[in-house]
Amino acid sequence: MATLASELDLPVLLTDRITTETTLPSDAWLVRNGFGYAVWRYDDVTRILRDKRWHSATSRIPELMGITDEKFLSRQDISILSAEGDTHTRLRRLVAPAFSPRSADRLRPFMREVINDLVDKVAAAGRADFAADICEPYPIPIICELLGAPKSDWQLFSRWANDILEVFSMDMADKLELIMRTQDELDAYTRELIAERRSKPADDLLTDLIAQEESGDKLSESELVMMVNAVIVGGTDTTRNQLGCAVNLLSEHPDQWAILAEQPELAPRAVEETMRYFGAVRGTARFASVDIEYRDIMFPAGTFMSVSLLEANRDPNVFTEPQAFDITASKSDQPQLTFGSGIHYCLGQALARAELQEALPLLAQRMPNLRLDGPTTWKPDGVGIFGPAHMPVTFDAGH
Ligand code: HEM
Repeated sequence: MATLASELDLPVLLTDRITTETTLPSDAWLVRNGFGYAVWRYDDVTRILRDKRWHSATSRIPELMGITDEKFLSRQDISILSAEGDTHTRLRRLVAPAFSPRSADRLRPFMREVINDLVDKVAAAGRADFAADICEPYPIPIICELLGAPKSDWQLFSRWANDILEVFSMDMADKLELIMRTQDELDAYTRELIAERRSKPADDLLTDLIAQEESGDKLSESELVMMVNAVIVGGTDTTRNQLGCAVNLLSEHPDQWAILAEQPELAPRAVEETMRYFGAVRGTARFASVDIEYRDIMFPAGTFMSVSLLEANRDPNVFTEPQAFDITASKSDQPQLTFGSGIHYCLGQALARAELQEALPLLAQRMPNLRLDGPTTWKPDGVGIFGPAHMPVTFDAGH
């Protein structure tokens, strides 16, 4: 007979989540936190993320933030990020081909162009705010190119992305009007772009998604709009912060920065190891859609469960020498978990991997001898995405 979770005498975590580095009890596998419970071992994290009875908590964020605004809540259409069951399977089946590694690969030359342009602006000075000058602008042109939006709209997208991403901020409740206004603007823009692509197909994601729509089962127009929204929400802040975390980490390991410049073929390993050691998405959350018995404990329907990707990525049962950072060695035959696991496993992982694999070696070559030039200011750890707000660096000029 399973014990009810609420009847257990569990350690209590003072922080609400375990997305920040914290001391966890070594003899326990479960703690209580402000929302419900939390797990952090690789085995528990993957088992919970792969169990379809645990549903994504994304749709519950407004409620967790205490938002009661009816107008806002009623607008939160079903998104792939929060859909479950058959709805999610269908969406994922329809959109997956458009997010294949092959689709990501066709953007690689463009990614190099974007990074080179950004470095050109700071190369002569030999100093930069790496977060503001490189990370912040990097993903926007790529998302625009992916969607087929013209260069003249980069600024617009940048503003939309910033405003919409307020849904992940701790003061989201004060930003509702702004978020809704921006969603309206983006929706109208996307509908126009869809109409354009229907009459004039191009080599981009939107055309691919529309083509999927054309073959048998279809994505509706509002599902297409939702996908564009999901790409902006899922694909901008994640990538820019991951790049910031990776370069911050590498700046503390100058030998590995130099190796990467000399051996750009190490880029895939460097991406996996930086994401393992210092992931920008440090945790996510689920809630029990039904009563769930797990490891002889009963979690009643509605129970919230935080999962720490950060801690799972350093689990000594899975990774050899997990506290050592090394882009030249393989530490496990199991994947790092910063892209999640299970049905919600990052849809944009091939694109994100390509963006980071193109950026890191190029940056190492063009910013030799990179070092921190003052303290890095970190963004507040909102709902899980973490990275540098300001990161002053110096490097050898003129490359
Ligand atoms: C380094 C960059 C990125 C990281 C660390 C990251 C991380 C993640 C994680 C952890 C999840 C699962 C969340 C959960 O299970 O609760 C996820 C889902 C998702 N990501 Fe990413 N992501 C990145 C880049 C991207 C990009 C570039 C795109 C789009 C172009 C994207 C689109 C999505 C979407 C649509 C989902 C939801 C998938 C689903 O629910 O089926 N992500 N991402």
